[in-house]
Amino acid sequence: MKIKDIISKNLSVLKEVTDIPQKEIYIFLGFILEKDFIWLTLNQDYELSFSQLQKINDCIKKRATHYPVEYITNRVSFYGEEFNIYDGVLIPRPETELLVDKAYDILKEITSPNIVEIGTGSGIISTMLAKKIENINITAVDINPKALELAKLNASKHNVSHKIDFVLSDLFTNVKDAQYHMIVSNPPYIANDFELPKNVLYEPKEALFGGNKGDELIVDIVNICINKNIKYFCCEMGYDQKEPLSKIFDQNGWVYEFYSDYSGFDRGFILRLKE
Ligand SMILES: C[S@@+](CC[C@H](N)C(=O)[O-])C[C@H]1O[C@@H](n2cnc3c(N)ncnc32)[C@H](O)[C@@H]1O
Repeated sequence: MKIKDIISKNLSVLKEVTDIPQKEIYIFLGFILEKDFIWLTLNQDYELSFSQLQKINDCIKKRATHYPVEYITNRVSFYGEEFNIYDGVLIPRPETELLVDKAYDILKEITSPNIVEIGTGSGIISTMLAKKIENINITAVDINPKALELAKLNASKHNVSHKIDFVLSDLFTNVKDAQYHMIVSNPPYIANDFELPKNVLYEPKEALFGGNKGDELIVDIVNICINKNIKYFCCEMGYDQKEPLSKIFDQNGWVYEFYSDYSGFDRGFILRLKE
């Protein structure tokens, strides 16, 4: 079967699960044939071998169950860079690039920043900060051993392993005592009773649900900052968490700033706890 026939045959199948069926078929073709989009569009009459065809059919079959594209190709793009991803670890979202930028804006002014990332997942935040900041030292923690394994792989792929200590830890439990300048985190922040869209159902629950209200882990991390005397907390949050969190921040007289994501939803904050 030719490339153009594969596209026309599978468009209607993928229309059921995605708004961009053609793009996704091209992604699978590129993944199987190891060719880029331009090659694929210029070689529409290329005839796939039997095994290539089988592989494409497997991709389409999996995707038709709402299984995420990134878990099929084991690749994800974040901050213009390619990272590895696999089942069992949260797929990075584009809005988390904003959190990297917010943390970077503060850290670039500190000579040798020493920070902790809570809930590193695939390691994208720590890896990007380590790529952008020369003298940074990061402790990146997660409760999911599979995530830490992947985060190590991604740090190594981007040559920043020497700047990041990966630690299996529930919040700060196994983090060694030191003076840290910042905690950065994209913690689980969805309320436990929220009904997830079908594609998100394949992602690990411990990466998504933050408690009955959703912001419980965020509040736990604020308390860690207080107890450990950490000046900055940069955090992603749910679109409906600005009000309850700002109440806590105001009660304590802290300086803070919320930021919105690319769709205009409240998505995170930078909190400065002490002078
Ligand atoms: C929303 S994901 C973020 C992953 C990654 N940082 C990103 O932005 O794509 C949250 C991560 O926090 C981890 N996590 C959940 N509870 C935790 C806890 N109590 N202590 C440490 N990590 C935790 C999850 O395993 C998951 O990898």
